Amino acid sequence: MVDDARYLDVLAREFDSLVPENALKWKALQSDRSVWTFDVPDQMVDFAEQNGMQVKGHTLAWSKELSYPGWFLVLPRAEQLVAIRDHIQAVVGRYAGRITAWDVWNEAMANDGSGLLGGVSEDDIADAFRWAREADPDVVLLYNDYKIAGSGRKSDDVFAMLQRLVAIGAPVDGVGFQMHVNLADAPPSGAEVAANMARYEGLGLKVTISEMDVRIADLAGTTDERLEAQADYYRDMVGVCLAAPNCLGVTFWGFTDRYSWIDARHGADDPLLFDEKLVEKPAYFGVLDALETTR
Ligand code: G3I
Repeated sequence: MVDDARYLDVLAREFDSLVPENALKWKALQSDRSVWTFDVPDQMVDFAEQNGMQVKGHTLAWSKELSYPGWFLVLPRAEQLVAIRDHIQAVVGRYAGRITAWDVWNEAMANDGSGLLGGVSEDDIADAFRWAREADPDVVLLYNDYKIAGSGRKSDDVFAMLQRLVAIGAPVDGVGFQMHVNLADAPPSGAEVAANMARYEGLGLKVTISEMDVRIADLAGTTDERLEAQADYYRDMVGVCLAAPNCLGVTFWGFTDRYSWIDARHGADDPLLFDEKLVEKPAYFGVLDALETTR
């Protein structure tokens, strides 16, 4: 987004934290094992510092092929774990003191109750947290996943895993609820998300809403009604976070409908706070309302 001056103006004016969407993924940093490329994330971190914003890193490990470079995918398992360690030490170490939180492991859990994906064990995940902690003693270390904000099997599976990781002393600080939701598909209610945040509080863990966007194209009603329903959902969830003592914040997965992964994956929609012309939508005012009235 470095070439879009209006985008950057709105980003700096409206937000106090940013997360590079893809630029800190392993594939982006080290597509060739012998060459590291940090230019884009360096620019983003510089931009954040110049504008008084924090940076959260996304993501060190991910149990899907999407973020791994090709050379990693063909390594034997034992060598992959060594590579993950080297990767974490290099990247967390490089940004120590500048990146304030990291998604250490992203999307490790199956949706259907069958446990961890891709041959990963809980010990592997615990090790990843330990390596990240060694590389930066002060950074907030998070596990991040989807379909875990409300109630349900996957939410319970992730909670149980984090409970075990905490019990063995793995340095997990908290959990990210992605919250890519479709309003036509019964997304979690505010009460459910609040209850889930509360059980993590009981475990001594922080929570964050980490990748929120709200699809409305499949909703019935007029455009104005859909946009109002979206505003209500954003207002509720930001309010839930503000009311939870352990909620660190809300990250939106983009902020303008001009740029969203949704269009490529799910078709045209209007999932974010600003429209394609970077004009504030009802969703923006819903968030603002929550910020002004909660607490
Ligand atoms: O940059 C290339 C471009 O050069 C090429 O022409 C084009 C053709 O496919 O691909 C472009 O890369 C795409 C990249 O997004 C940038 O647009 C990749 O194919 C595409 O796979 C990638 O998708 C990203 C996806 O993660 C996989 O890394 C999405 O932008 C990003 O929003 C999405 O984010 C994930 C989070 O990391 C984890 N949680 C879910 C979330 C949404 O799926």
